[in-house]
Amino acid sequence: MRPGFQDRVMAAVASIRDSSDFAHRFSPSLALVAGTGLGPILDDIAVGARISYAEIAGFPRSTAPSHKGELILGQLNERAVVAQSGRFHLYEGWSDEDIVLPVYILRALGAARLVVTNAAGALNSDYRVGDAVLIADHLNFINRHPLKGPNDDRLGVRFPDMSNVYDRGLRQAARQAAETLGTPLHEGIYAAVHGPEFETSAERRFLRLAGGDLVGMSTVLEVIAAAHCGMATLGFSAVTNVATGGPEQQPDTLEEVLANAGQGGERIRRILLHMITAGSL
Ligand code: HPA
Repeated sequence: MRPGFQDRVMAAVASIRDSSDFAHRFSPSLALVAGTGLGPILDDIAVGARISYAEIAGFPRSTAPSHKGELILGQLNERAVVAQSGRFHLYEGWSDEDIVLPVYILRALGAARLVVTNAAGALNSDYRVGDAVLIADHLNFINRHPLKGPNDDRLGVRFPDMSNVYDRGLRQAARQAAETLGTPLHEGIYAAVHGPEFETSAERRFLRLAGGDLVGMSTVLEVIAAAHCGMATLGFSAVTNVATGGPEQQPDTLEEVLANAGQGGERIRRILLHMITAGSL
């Protein structure tokens, strides 16, 4: 990271704190990031403050479809949460640092846990459109590394451990919540690619052979940053399209992704609410 990144984080946090009395006093312990088509996951939040990204010093602006571009501070089942409605993707042209800046801000606001969600294609032929998948681990085929450059020891260590990056205990709690609710939940590996083009069929078969169950264009840089700054991460994908690259492969469209995110998103929403109520998140 470039020298001065920490100042950028602190300036953004100051502008959030200064935006209202509520924001000034607010101390969230949990952060949520809503992915493409997954905004409704945040609908249950009793909103204390909404801060448009444009009001936050040095914050990028959301340009991805269906991403609103605001930070929400509020209560979710009595739990103080901060939520990012709209995230940033490399394919929009943002730098690695722009992508991970919000994570350090969420951490600096007080959140020690991070829930990331995304829309993803299914490399695994057992998955169906509308399924919810707990992310067990990831493969970074984006091939970008946000911690590159001098390390700022105030933010985290030089060589963060990534062996349990999607927290084992939180995953166990998520499986438990899904079982109690009777909500189907797969668990799989998320392969991240740069985009914005969808993958070729050969690339998808390669990603499957490499061990991926899901493919998407986000999440992994943020999760690397979360590991760096000591947050425990839980991740979910909503399966929006078949991405096996096999004979059954159909053309991909954004419309399909947006139309199909809601079903998996609703399952993820229920699991998260249950976990919060049960005190396991
Ligand atoms: N590939 C990459 N990103 C995606 C996909 C996909 O098939 N579906 C939703 N996001």
